Amino acid sequence: MKNIVLLGFMGTGKSVVGRRLAADIHYRFVDTDCLIESRAHQRIFRIIQEKGEAQFRQLESLVVREVACRRRCVISTGGGVVLDPKNIEALQENGILVTLQARPEVILKRVQRHNGTRPLLDSPDPLSKIYELLKEREPHYRRASLILDTSDMPVKEVIRQIKEKAWAV
Ligand code: S3P
Repeated sequence: MKNIVLLGFMGTGKSVVGRRLAADIHYRFVDTDCLIESRAHQRIFRIIQEKGEAQFRQLESLVVREVACRRRCVISTGGGVVLDPKNIEALQENGILVTLQARPEVILKRVQRHNGTRPLLDSPDPLSKIYELLKEREPHYRRASLILDTSDMPVKEVIRQIKEKAWAV
């Protein structure tokens, strides 16, 4: 059985949905951000602050290549994983890509609940930053076979729709 790979911007619900979906369908849950943190012995925001985004992306690609080979996993990815087309190709080889999306205002509200953990949004005007990053990333997120908007959808319903539609596409 193919992996389910969750793509999408920060705050679209990838980790929460991924964890519950995995438990529901008896798959293992893998979160690429968590793996990067455990490999680097450092939190993501520290890696980006201290080593820079380029180095973080290298670590991310290494972890992606590793998890893409696994089987029966729900893989939750960091929002910028789509920036390297090789990441997507690797994840797609043995996985069904599902993008979670949300309205920029909803994203802002959700990420503000975990202030300080998203250095890429550390800006005097985070909403504009969200719009800017989304513009760059949206074409990549659209490569998924299934796209769900989680802005007004309870987690349970997101999971139901993934279970219903992901294998059918
Ligand atoms: C990032 C998203 C974060 C994390 C890092 C960079 C991004 O993951 O990988 O801060 O570039 O969008 P989440 O999407 O899980 O917040």
